[in-house]
Amino acid sequence: MADPAGTEQAAFEPSAIEWQQATCYLNGEWTALTEAKVSVLDRGFIFGDGIYEVIAVDTVDDLRAPFRARQHFARLQRSLDMVRIDNPFSVEHWLNLIAEAIERHPWTRQLVYVQVTRGVAKRDHPFPAGAVPTVFVNTSPWPAIPVEQIEQGVSAVTHADERWLHCDIKSTSLLGNVLMKQYAIDNGASETVMLRDGFLTEGSSTNVSVVKSGVISMPPQTVQILPGITVDGIAHIAQQHGVEVDMRPIAAAELRAADEIWLSSSGREMLAIVSLDGVGVGSGKPGPMYRSMHAWFQQAKALDAQQWAAERAGHLSITRTTQRAA
Ligand SMILES: Cc1ncc(COP(=O)(O)O)c(C=O)c1O
Repeated sequence: MADPAGTEQAAFEPSAIEWQQATCYLNGEWTALTEAKVSVLDRGFIFGDGIYEVIAVDTVDDLRAPFRARQHFARLQRSLDMVRIDNPFSVEHWLNLIAEAIERHPWTRQLVYVQVTRGVAKRDHPFPAGAVPTVFVNTSPWPAIPVEQIEQGVSAVTHADERWLHCDIKSTSLLGNVLMKQYAIDNGASETVMLRDGFLTEGSSTNVSVVKSGVISMPPQTVQILPGITVDGIAHIAQQHGVEVDMRPIAAAELRAADEIWLSSSGREMLAIVSLDGVGVGSGKPGPMYRSMHAWFQQAKALDAQQWAAERAGHLSITRTTQRAA
C-alpha cells in the first residue's frame, strides 16, 4: 500500500488524528466519516434491519492485529443467514477490507465496526425485492482499558431480561440493550446483568461467566444470548490451561453465590464484577482465577496477532499505516 506520508513509525502515534477525522467504507467507497451518508429509506435506519460486528485491534509485540477476526466473520455470516440478508463478501474479502480500514488509521488500538443492512427500499415490512445490502465499515480509537478496572474490578446491577428471543443474532436492533446499559449508568454501575426466568443470560453488551470452586461456568449458547467471540476465546484459553469450563444454565442464586463473576466483550476484554446489586462478589476484589485468565488472555492475543501477521504476509502490510485519513 502507498505510504504518502512516508511515516511508517510515526504513523503509530495514537493522537495523530481524532476519531472524527477517520475515513470509512460505505458501499464500495472510502469517504470521510463525517461526509458519509446513507438514505433515510435504508432499512437499517427505518427498521433496525441489519447485522453488525465489533472487532478489537491491538498492537502486541509491535504487531497490530484484529483479535479473532475469522471468528467475527463466521458470526457475521451466521447472523446474516438467520435474517436472510445475503453476505456481500467472502471472508477473505472482509479480512482485506478491515485490514485496509486498520491501515488507513494511525491508532495502535482500534475498534472496527462492520454493519450490513438489508438496503434501501420504500418503507414496507416485507423483504424488498432486489434491495442491495448497505455495507458500512469504520474504525475508531480504542482507549486502553483502565488499569483500575482491571485491578479493582467493576460493579453491576441485575435486571429482568426483557429482550426478544433472538439475542443470538447480532442485530442492529439494540434498543433493549441500550435501555439496559442506561439502567446500569442510572444506578451508578458499569454493567447490567440480565436474568430471564431466574437464570443468568448476559450483560447489556457483554457475556457473563461465573467461577465457583475453580470451575468456570457460562450460560449455554441458546437464542437467549449472543455467542460472544471473547467468551468463546476465554473458554478455549481456559481449557488449554487445564481449567474446567462448564456450559449450563446458571440460576440467580448461583450467580449471587459465585466466587468470581466476569464480564467479557471485544471492547472490554474481560473484567471482574466485584459488586452485584451493591453486594460484594467473593472477596470483593478480582479473584485469582480472573488474574490468571487475564494474563492468559493477553498471551492468546499475542499468538493471534502472530497468526494474523503470518496470514497477512503478502497482503497489505500490517505494521505500516498511512495518514490518508487526515
Ligand atoms: C449483548 C452482547 N452480549 C455479548 C457481547 C460480547 O460479544 P463479543 O465478545 O463478541 O464482543 C456483546 C458485544 O457487543 C453484546 O452486545
